Amino acid sequence: MSIKIAVMSMKGGQGKTVLSVNLADRISKANRDVLLIDSDMQANVTTIFQRDHVCNLANLVLGEIKEFQFIDVNQYFSFLPSGGKGMVAAARYISSSRFRESILKNLLEPLDQSVIIFDCAPSWNEVNENILMYVDYVIVPVVTDYLGFSGCDQVMTYIEDLKNDARGLCHAEVLGIAITRYNIRTNISKTVMTGLSERWPDLMFESVVEESVSIQEAPAYHQSIFDYKKGKTKGALMYDALCKEILMRIAEKGKD
Ligand SMILES: Nc1ncnc2c1ncn2[C@@H]1O[C@H](COP(=O)(O)OP(=O)(O)O)[C@@H](O)[C@H]1O
Ligand SMILES: [Mg+2]
Repeated sequence: MSIKIAVMSMKGGQGKTVLSVNLADRISKANRDVLLIDSDMQANVTTIFQRDHVCNLANLVLGEIKEFQFIDVNQYFSFLPSGGKGMVAAARYISSSRFRESILKNLLEPLDQSVIIFDCAPSWNEVNENILMYVDYVIVPVVTDYLGFSGCDQVMTYIEDLKNDARGLCHAEVLGIAITRYNIRTNISKTVMTGLSERWPDLMFESVVEESVSIQEAPAYHQSIFDYKKGKTKGALMYDALCKEILMRIAEKGKD
């Protein structure tokens, strides 16, 4: 059975895409099959890898394409593009369906990759609800600025509310909160990290990703942080530590 993870926050610019891409690539480098599904109409995974094709999440949801076709990044890592603006129609289709809670669950049932990761859109919509009905875990990325804290608070509330409303159908568990961009030069970074640790002491990942030029540059070279400059950057070290901790936590939960 696949391990299904959503990388989700209700705020843009929190490092969802960077974390999703790097986590997927890190898993592939351990020779495990991983599928990254882009569910954001901004289609940033497509932008990073500069590849697209006709099969995407939007037209699969809309029933325009019947067979899965993924884009291979390497032998173990493939991704499914979102379909960009098509995600608007997909969200509308889901919300008008009689089976609105389980569209993605049913659609993605045949998938058998070891790990399936969603790079989510920062929105309160039916697509994210459907993803939460499907996944085992949610990772919440946070940038340590003031608005990052409130974004984290919002996604926690969103998940809790959905679980309360879903009559036991939503099993998604918040695996952890990942600091994806910590600025060592600012007091607000320290303050926000302390605030997060006090509020969610059991959920924080200890490995903190600091602001780094290499993390910002890697997407421009269409590479993960582990391929960019052959992985010999501080950014790669920080992401390696975070990904290992994420995988350890999943293993501890007994589902690995
Ligand atoms: N640790 C970091 N250091 C520097 N830039 C970062 C870091 N993490 C993310 N970024 C940059 O911040 C921006 C937002 O990240 P992104 O992953 O696209 O966020 P989201 O998907 O949540 O909107 C991107 O330009 C990305 O390159
Ligand atoms: Mg993104």
